[in-house]
Amino acid sequence: MKKLINERQLPSLLSREEMLGILQREEYGFMPPSPDCISFSKAPLRNENVFAGKGLLWEITVALKINGKDFSFPVSLMIPEGEGPFPFFVNINFEKNIPNYYFPAEEILDNGFAAFNLYFKDVTADNDDFSDGLAGVIFPEGRKNNTDCGKIAMWAWAAQRCLDYAETEPRLDMKRAAVCGHSRLGKTALVAAATDERFYYAHSNDSGCSGASIARDNTGETVSDICRVFPYWFCENYKKYTDNEYSMPFDQHFLLASIAPRFVTVGSADEDAWADPTGEQLSCFAASPAFEKDGQSGFICDRKAVTGDTFFEGNIGYFLRKGRHFFSREDWNKMFEFIRSKN
Ligand code: GCU
Repeated sequence: MKKLINERQLPSLLSREEMLGILQREEYGFMPPSPDCISFSKAPLRNENVFAGKGLLWEITVALKINGKDFSFPVSLMIPEGEGPFPFFVNINFEKNIPNYYFPAEEILDNGFAAFNLYFKDVTADNDDFSDGLAGVIFPEGRKNNTDCGKIAMWAWAAQRCLDYAETEPRLDMKRAAVCGHSRLGKTALVAAATDERFYYAHSNDSGCSGASIARDNTGETVSDICRVFPYWFCENYKKYTDNEYSMPFDQHFLLASIAPRFVTVGSADEDAWADPTGEQLSCFAASPAFEKDGQSGFICDRKAVTGDTFFEGNIGYFLRKGRHFFSREDWNKMFEFIRSKN
């Protein structure tokens, strides 16, 4: 693994502040500003307790002012029956209703967690329409600067607003706030945790290019592929690195390193070549020194992963499961296992 890392000539890690500055300026764009004011309303999503009485389900409307303009979006929240405070996830999701494909509600409750389900398109459309939702509010005349943020930063920002709500809910344990997502939303979960220290743990599921995976010599999706098909996820500056990854003053290990000294797991799937499992594991290695401070441990692993491997000893966890690109129940169980091992 050391050899693979050396071949990629990765830029050395910097301070968290410097790395976040570079990642925002060159890749994701600068995060939208904090809201001027924010309020919440809450309505039950079902009349009775859900899932055999194991949980409660609400829809929260987050209403805020940003740049003097009103903006609101809904998010669902499921809390186990009982007083809490419960550890919780903000799951940035492709689906809205609960339960869904990527939100195994009963397993989450049975494992003692609460969870927000944030449907990404409730924040802004997943396309180049910058007049839609939050994009239209922060860029009333469209994007103008090369560092104006793309959609990933906007979804990540919305996940942080869920924490603003969580701070008002005594049944949620703010010391145990996790964020997770799959694929483009795995990239988003990492950005959310990197830029907001209130998240104590992030899970990237098959996030691949521009997420957990090192871009230099990536064997799957490249910066050129992603900038051609999904340019609106990023700021304009990112396009400079099309077919030019070795000129980047950063690589994706900066993103994981910006989560230090907190916790992060990277989940890969062995048939998901597009997300480059090896590139994902490499960034865990390369980010490790940022975590190895103050008695913490980084990524404890001495070899390239084979299917079924789990490396959960340090603050950075990695696993390679069998199968395809998907946020499966197995991935959720891995998150529960990692969190439990750190308590
Ligand atoms: C595409 C894209 C990936 C992304 C994925 C997804 O495959 O190329 O970068 O992670 O969509 O979000 O499902």
